Amino acid sequence: MDWGMKNRFSRILNAKTGRCLMLAVDHGYFQGPTTGLENLGKMVNPILPYSDALMITRGALRTWIPAETDKPVVLRVSGGQSILKELSNEIITTSIQDAVRINASAVTCSVYVGGEYEKETIGNLSQIVNEGENYGIPVLAVTAVGKEMVRDARYLGLACRICVEIGAHMVKTYYCENFEKIVEACGKVPVVIAGGKKIEEKAALEMASNAIKAGAVGVDMGRNVFQSDNPVGMIRAVRAIVHENVSVAEAYKIYQSRS
Ligand code: R5P
Repeated sequence: MDWGMKNRFSRILNAKTGRCLMLAVDHGYFQGPTTGLENLGKMVNPILPYSDALMITRGALRTWIPAETDKPVVLRVSGGQSILKELSNEIITTSIQDAVRINASAVTCSVYVGGEYEKETIGNLSQIVNEGENYGIPVLAVTAVGKEMVRDARYLGLACRICVEIGAHMVKTYYCENFEKIVEACGKVPVVIAGGKKIEEKAALEMASNAIKAGAVGVDMGRNVFQSDNPVGMIRAVRAIVHENVSVAEAYKIYQSRS
């Protein structure tokens, strides 16, 4: 890895623990005003200090996040579809030059393995890896799962490994049983999990804990933080799991605290 890419990457992965707690708030790029993010700045700015990085689109960043933030930005550069149409029909929306202008620490796009536009989304990943290599910007590949796919280690392992082979520097996928197999399939490329749909807080903390135990380097969580009744408590609880290896019971107490 070249110095610039290594430097950007090290802003995302905590130097002490080698792990990462990313806050994902890019949902609006195809979902519009997602519950909890209607006023994105009001929700995100109080919880941002507890995250290591922010996953967001350029429009949301420029609209709601102060440029003075010291949090590294993982910039969502794909889009072009909405929840009203075929989700895999994505294009690259944001140029690498704009990612540089924004001072992004990484760029990210979704890959729909098995989806209608599988080839195009793998093409999108290829394009941003090529550009990222040119400019020293790492790429996070997101394995997006169509409704018809089963979220098991076989499918997610296939999707993640394709992202690694195309050249992604980090992979984001869903937690499932036998998660170790997915981590193994990615070799040296770090894997983070998405939170997925809002579930009960204890279950979300258990999922994060199990993923870390199975070899994930971290969590890129959105709805299970910002749709919680205590978003600050929840992000602090996930942070303790990711960086301090606390038990789920201890993390749950952190979630419940309002201090
Ligand atoms: C989905 O396309 C986006 O990349 C989300 O940021 C991602 O799924 C993570 O958010 P959540 O934890 O809400 O699933």
